[in-house]
Amino acid sequence: MKLFKAQKQNERLWKIALLALLSLLSLTVIVGCNATANSETAPEDTQRPILVEGPMPIEAEEFAERLENVEKETSGIYDFYIGTVDDYPVIVVKTSKGMENAAAATAVAVERYNPVAIISQGTSGGHDPSLDVFDIVLGKRTVNIGALKTGDRDENEGIEPTEWIPMDLMASEGSAGEDPDAENIRYYEADEELLAAANAVKDSHTKGKVVEGTIGSADVWNNEVDRINWFHEKFGTSVEEMETASAAQIAKAYEVPFLGVRILSNNKTNDGEYNPNTAEVNQEYVYEIVKEYIATHLAE
Ligand code: 5AD
Repeated sequence: MKLFKAQKQNERLWKIALLALLSLLSLTVIVGCNATANSETAPEDTQRPILVEGPMPIEAEEFAERLENVEKETSGIYDFYIGTVDDYPVIVVKTSKGMENAAAATAVAVERYNPVAIISQGTSGGHDPSLDVFDIVLGKRTVNIGALKTGDRDENEGIEPTEWIPMDLMASEGSAGEDPDAENIRYYEADEELLAAANAVKDSHTKGKVVEGTIGSADVWNNEVDRINWFHEKFGTSVEEMETASAAQIAKAYEVPFLGVRILSNNKTNDGEYNPNTAEVNQEYVYEIVKEYIATHLAE
Protein backbone atom coordinates (compact mmCIF):
# COMPACT_ATOMS: atom_id res chain seq x y z
CA MET A 1 0.00 0.00 0.00
CA LYS A 2 2.79 2.41 1.01
CA LEU A 3 4.74 1.56 -2.13
CA PHE A 4 1.67 2.25 -4.29
CA LYS A 5 1.19 5.72 -2.65
CA ALA A 6 4.84 6.69 -3.24
CA GLN A 7 4.57 5.61 -6.88
CA LYS A 8 1.43 7.75 -7.35
CA GLN A 9 3.17 10.81 -5.84
CA ASN A 10 6.17 10.30 -8.11
CA GLU A 11 3.88 10.18 -11.14
CA ARG A 12 2.17 13.45 -10.05
CA LEU A 13 5.54 15.19 -9.64
CA TRP A 14 6.63 14.10 -13.12
CA LYS A 15 3.33 15.39 -14.60
CA ILE A 16 3.83 18.82 -12.95
CA ALA A 17 7.43 19.03 -14.19
CA LEU A 18 6.34 18.10 -17.74
CA LEU A 19 3.55 20.72 -17.72
CA ALA A 20 5.96 23.43 -16.51
CA LEU A 21 8.44 22.50 -19.27
CA LEU A 22 5.71 22.61 -21.94
CA SER A 23 4.43 26.06 -20.81
CA LEU A 24 7.99 27.41 -20.85
CA LEU A 25 8.53 26.07 -24.36
CA SER A 26 5.31 27.59 -25.74
CA LEU A 27 6.09 30.94 -24.11
CA THR A 28 9.49 31.00 -25.81
CA VAL A 29 7.88 30.25 -29.17
CA ILE A 30 5.25 33.05 -28.74
CA VAL A 31 7.87 35.66 -27.70
CA GLY A 32 10.13 34.59 -30.56
CA CYS A 33 7.33 34.97 -33.12
CA ASN A 34 6.41 38.42 -31.83
CA ALA A 35 9.99 39.61 -32.03
CA THR A 36 10.20 38.49 -35.64
CA ALA A 37 6.82 40.06 -36.49
CA ASN A 38 7.83 43.41 -34.95
CA SER A 39 11.18 43.64 -36.63
CA GLU A 40 9.62 42.73 -39.97
CA THR A 41 6.63 45.08 -39.92
CA ALA A 42 8.19 48.02 -38.05
CA PRO A 43 11.88 48.35 -38.79
CA GLU A 44 13.12 50.75 -36.12
CA ASP A 45 14.98 53.17 -38.38
CA THR A 46 12.25 53.80 -40.95
CA GLN A 47 9.52 54.30 -38.37
CA ARG A 48 11.18 56.88 -36.13
CA PRO A 49 9.01 60.01 -36.40
CA ILE A 50 9.99 63.44 -37.71
CA LEU A 51 9.52 66.07 -35.00
CA VAL A 52 8.27 69.54 -35.99
CA GLU A 53 8.42 72.21 -33.27
CA GLY A 54 6.45 75.46 -33.05
CA PRO A 55 6.34 77.75 -30.00
CA MET A 56 2.99 79.53 -30.07
CA PRO A 57 -0.45 78.13 -31.05
CA ILE A 58 -0.29 80.11 -34.34
CA GLU A 59 3.13 78.54 -35.00
CA ALA A 60 2.12 74.88 -34.44
CA GLU A 61 -1.59 74.34 -34.99
CA GLU A 62 -1.65 74.95 -38.75
CA PHE A 63 0.81 72.06 -39.20
CA ALA A 64 -0.96 69.89 -36.62
CA GLU A 65 -4.21 70.27 -38.61
CA ARG A 66 -2.46 68.90 -41.70
CA LEU A 67 -1.55 65.63 -39.93
CA GLU A 68 -3.59 62.51 -40.55
CA ASN A 69 -4.63 59.96 -37.89
CA VAL A 70 -3.83 62.46 -35.12
CA GLU A 71 -3.72 61.70 -31.43
CA LYS A 72 -2.80 64.29 -28.82
CA GLU A 73 -0.54 63.65 -25.85
CA THR A 74 0.52 66.19 -23.26
CA SER A 75 3.52 66.38 -20.95
CA GLY A 76 3.64 69.40 -18.66
CA ILE A 77 2.58 72.31 -20.88
CA TYR A 78 3.91 70.62 -24.03
CA ASP A 79 1.28 69.36 -26.47
CA PHE A 80 2.32 66.60 -28.87
CA TYR A 81 0.17 66.01 -31.96
CA ILE A 82 1.06 62.52 -33.11
CA GLY A 83 0.03 61.65 -36.65
CA THR A 84 1.23 60.90 -40.15
CA VAL A 85 2.19 62.70 -43.36
CA ASP A 86 2.12 60.49 -46.47
CA ASP A 87 1.75 57.48 -44.13
CA TYR A 88 4.99 58.33 -42.32
CA PRO A 89 4.92 59.22 -38.57
CA VAL A 90 5.25 62.93 -37.86
CA ILE A 91 4.86 64.63 -34.48
CA VAL A 92 4.13 68.34 -34.02
CA VAL A 93 4.97 69.78 -30.61
CA LYS A 94 3.71 73.11 -29.32
CA THR A 95 6.66 74.06 -27.13
CA SER A 96 5.54 77.48 -25.83
CA LYS A 97 7.89 80.44 -26.03
CA GLY A 98 11.53 80.76 -25.05
CA MET A 99 14.78 78.87 -24.72
CA GLU A 100 13.89 76.79 -21.67
CA ASN A 101 10.58 75.58 -23.06
CA ALA A 102 12.16 74.73 -26.41
CA ALA A 103 14.95 72.75 -24.71
CA ALA A 104 12.62 70.91 -22.35
CA ALA A 105 10.09 70.02 -25.04
CA THR A 106 12.91 68.76 -27.28
CA ALA A 107 14.38 66.57 -24.53
CA VAL A 108 10.97 65.16 -23.60
CA ALA A 109 10.26 64.42 -27.28
CA VAL A 110 13.62 62.71 -27.80
CA GLU A 111 13.14 60.51 -24.74
CA ARG A 112 9.51 59.67 -25.51
CA TYR A 113 9.42 59.37 -29.30
CA ASN A 114 13.02 58.86 -30.51
CA PRO A 115 12.71 61.20 -33.54
CA VAL A 116 14.78 60.59 -36.66
CA ALA A 117 15.01 64.36 -37.34
CA ILE A 118 13.95 67.63 -35.73
CA ILE A 119 12.76 70.85 -37.42
CA SER A 120 12.37 73.93 -35.23
CA GLN A 121 10.22 76.49 -37.01
CA GLY A 122 8.34 79.72 -36.35
CA THR A 123 8.58 83.49 -36.66
CA SER A 124 11.58 85.79 -36.20
CA GLY A 125 12.84 89.36 -36.40
CA GLY A 126 15.26 90.41 -39.13
CA HIS A 127 18.88 91.36 -38.41
CA ASP A 128 19.73 91.58 -42.10
CA PRO A 129 18.29 94.68 -43.82
CA SER A 130 18.11 92.84 -47.14
CA LEU A 131 15.48 90.47 -45.71
CA ASP A 132 11.79 91.41 -45.69
CA VAL A 133 8.77 90.24 -43.74
CA PHE A 134 7.65 86.88 -45.31
CA ASP A 135 11.23 85.95 -46.33
CA ILE A 136 12.40 82.64 -44.84
CA VAL A 137 15.81 81.82 -43.35
CA LEU A 138 17.04 78.23 -43.42
CA GLY A 139 19.36 78.00 -40.44
CA LYS A 140 22.57 76.72 -41.99
CA ARG A 141 23.91 77.71 -38.57
CA THR A 142 22.22 78.54 -35.29
CA VAL A 143 23.77 80.45 -32.41
CA ASN A 144 22.82 81.33 -28.83
CA ILE A 145 23.14 85.15 -28.68
CA GLY A 146 22.33 85.25 -24.97
CA ALA A 147 25.35 83.21 -23.85
CA LEU A 148 27.69 86.11 -23.05
CA LYS A 149 30.33 87.11 -20.49
CA THR A 150 30.57 90.82 -19.64
CA GLY A 151 33.81 92.79 -19.45
CA ASP A 152 35.58 93.42 -16.14
CA ARG A 153 34.26 96.70 -14.70
CA ASP A 154 34.25 98.07 -11.17
CA GLU A 155 31.47 99.97 -9.47
CA ASN A 156 30.57 103.21 -11.30
CA GLU A 157 32.45 102.07 -14.42
CA GLY A 158 29.18 101.54 -16.23
CA ILE A 159 27.85 98.91 -18.62
CA GLU A 160 29.40 98.28 -22.03
CA PRO A 161 27.42 95.61 -23.93
CA THR A 162 29.53 95.83 -27.10
CA GLU A 163 32.49 94.51 -25.05
CA TRP A 164 30.61 91.39 -24.07
CA ILE A 165 32.29 88.15 -25.06
CA PRO A 166 30.45 85.14 -26.49
CA MET A 167 30.44 82.00 -24.35
CA ASP A 168 30.41 78.45 -25.69
CA LEU A 169 28.11 76.52 -23.38
CA MET A 170 29.30 73.18 -24.79
CA ALA A 171 33.04 73.95 -24.62
CA SER A 172 34.20 72.15 -21.51
CA GLU A 173 33.19 70.83 -18.16
CA GLY A 174 35.81 73.02 -16.45
CA SER A 175 35.46 76.44 -14.85
CA ALA A 176 32.79 78.40 -16.71
CA GLY A 177 34.12 81.85 -15.85
CA GLU A 178 37.82 81.45 -16.51
CA ASP A 179 38.23 78.92 -19.30
CA PRO A 180 39.53 80.82 -22.38
CA ASP A 181 38.46 77.87 -24.57
CA ALA A 182 34.86 78.80 -23.77
CA GLU A 183 35.23 82.35 -25.14
CA ASN A 184 34.10 81.36 -28.60
CA ILE A 185 30.93 81.62 -30.62
CA ARG A 186 29.31 78.18 -30.75
CA TYR A 187 27.46 77.57 -33.99
CA TYR A 188 25.16 74.55 -34.31
CA GLU A 189 25.32 73.34 -37.92
CA ALA A 190 22.22 72.28 -39.83
CA ASP A 191 21.93 68.68 -40.94
CA GLU A 192 22.96 68.61 -44.61
CA GLU A 193 20.13 66.33 -45.74
CA LEU A 194 17.40 68.35 -44.03
CA LEU A 195 18.90 71.50 -45.54
CA ALA A 196 18.96 69.87 -48.99
CA ALA A 197 15.28 68.86 -48.64
CA ALA A 198 14.41 72.46 -47.67
CA ASN A 199 16.31 73.87 -50.65
CA ALA A 200 14.66 71.37 -53.00
CA VAL A 201 11.16 72.77 -52.27
CA LYS A 202 12.15 76.45 -52.10
CA ASP A 203 9.86 77.35 -55.01
CA SER A 204 6.75 76.34 -53.07
CA HIS A 205 7.21 79.51 -50.97
CA THR A 206 5.82 82.29 -53.15
CA LYS A 207 5.31 85.13 -50.66
CA GLY A 208 9.02 85.89 -50.20
CA LYS A 209 12.58 84.65 -50.67
CA VAL A 210 14.13 81.56 -49.09
CA VAL A 211 17.79 82.04 -48.09
CA GLU A 212 20.36 80.12 -46.06
CA GLY A 213 21.59 82.06 -43.04
CA THR A 214 22.32 82.23 -39.32
CA ILE A 215 19.57 82.10 -36.72
CA GLY A 216 20.36 83.80 -33.40
CA SER A 217 18.36 82.91 -30.28
CA ALA A 218 18.00 84.27 -26.75
CA ASP A 219 15.24 85.07 -24.28
CA VAL A 220 15.44 88.70 -25.47
CA TRP A 221 13.48 90.71 -28.03
CA ASN A 222 15.92 93.31 -29.39
CA ASN A 223 14.47 96.59 -30.63
CA GLU A 224 17.67 98.65 -30.44
CA VAL A 225 18.92 98.84 -34.02
CA ASP A 226 22.55 99.46 -32.96
CA ARG A 227 22.45 96.33 -30.82
CA ILE A 228 20.85 94.36 -33.68
CA ASN A 229 23.61 95.60 -36.00
CA TRP A 230 26.23 94.52 -33.45
CA PHE A 231 24.84 90.95 -33.44
CA HIS A 232 24.60 90.99 -37.23
CA GLU A 233 28.28 91.96 -37.54
CA LYS A 234 29.77 89.96 -34.67
CA PHE A 235 27.70 86.76 -34.92
CA GLY A 236 26.61 87.03 -38.57
CA THR A 237 22.95 86.70 -37.61
CA SER A 238 20.27 86.91 -40.30
CA VAL A 239 17.36 86.79 -37.83
CA GLU A 240 16.66 86.53 -34.10
CA GLU A 241 14.06 84.58 -32.16
CA MET A 242 13.78 82.70 -28.88
CA GLU A 243 13.94 78.93 -29.46
CA THR A 244 16.10 77.51 -32.23
CA ALA A 245 19.55 77.53 -30.60
CA SER A 246 18.35 75.80 -27.45
CA ALA A 247 16.52 73.11 -29.44
CA ALA A 248 19.66 72.73 -31.59
CA GLN A 249 21.80 72.33 -28.47
CA ILE A 250 19.61 69.49 -27.18
CA ALA A 251 19.44 67.87 -30.64
CA LYS A 252 23.26 67.99 -30.70
CA ALA A 253 23.45 66.48 -27.21
CA TYR A 254 21.41 63.50 -28.46
CA GLU A 255 22.96 63.48 -31.98
CA VAL A 256 19.60 63.94 -33.74
CA PRO A 257 19.71 65.65 -37.21
CA PHE A 258 18.39 69.20 -36.87
CA LEU A 259 17.24 72.18 -38.96
CA GLY A 260 15.83 75.59 -38.00
CA VAL A 261 13.41 77.29 -40.43
CA ARG A 262 12.35 80.83 -39.54
CA ILE A 263 10.14 83.28 -41.37
CA LEU A 264 10.53 87.02 -40.75
CA SER A 265 7.42 88.38 -39.02
CA ASN A 266 9.17 91.72 -38.41
CA ASN A 267 12.39 93.53 -39.27
CA LYS A 268 13.42 96.53 -37.21
CA THR A 269 16.39 97.28 -39.50
CA ASN A 270 14.19 98.15 -42.51
CA ASP A 271 10.90 99.12 -40.81
CA GLY A 272 9.29 95.75 -41.58
CA GLU A 273 6.06 95.82 -39.55
CA TYR A 274 5.09 92.75 -37.48
CA ASN A 275 2.72 90.46 -39.39
CA PRO A 276 1.34 87.38 -37.53
CA ASN A 277 0.12 85.77 -40.79
CA THR A 278 3.73 84.80 -41.46
CA ALA A 279 3.43 81.97 -38.88
CA GLU A 280 0.92 80.07 -41.02
CA VAL A 281 2.89 80.60 -44.23
CA ASN A 282 6.04 79.16 -42.62
CA GLN A 283 4.19 76.01 -41.60
CA GLU A 284 2.94 75.57 -45.17
CA TYR A 285 6.55 75.64 -46.36
CA VAL A 286 7.81 73.33 -43.59
CA TYR A 287 5.05 70.87 -44.55
CA GLU A 288 6.59 70.73 -48.04
CA ILE A 289 10.06 70.16 -46.51
CA VAL A 290 8.73 67.27 -44.43
CA LYS A 291 7.07 65.66 -47.47
CA GLU A 292 10.28 66.03 -49.47
CA TYR A 293 12.43 64.57 -46.68
CA ILE A 294 10.08 61.60 -46.31
CA ALA A 295 10.03 60.97 -50.07
CA THR A 296 13.81 61.20 -50.50
CA HIS A 297 15.12 59.76 -47.24
CA LEU A 298 12.54 57.72 -45.40
CA ALA A 299 10.07 56.13 -47.82
CA GLU A 300 10.70 52.44 -48.47
N1 5AD B 1 12.81 88.92 -31.37
C1 5AD B 1 12.65 87.85 -30.58
N2 5AD B 1 11.72 86.90 -30.79
C2 5AD B 1 10.91 87.00 -31.86
N3 5AD B 1 9.89 86.23 -32.33
C3 5AD B 1 9.41 86.82 -33.44
N4 5AD B 1 10.10 87.94 -33.70
C4 5AD B 1 11.04 88.10 -32.73
C5 5AD B 1 12.01 89.08 -32.45
N5 5AD B 1 12.16 90.18 -33.22
C6 5AD B 1 9.32 84.98 -31.77
C7 5AD B 1 10.12 84.26 -30.69
C8 5AD B 1 9.10 83.93 -29.61
C9 5AD B 1 8.00 84.94 -29.81
C10 5AD B 1 8.10 86.09 -28.88
O1 5AD B 1 8.10 85.38 -31.16
O2 5AD B 1 10.72 83.09 -31.23
O3 5AD B 1 8.54 82.63 -29.75
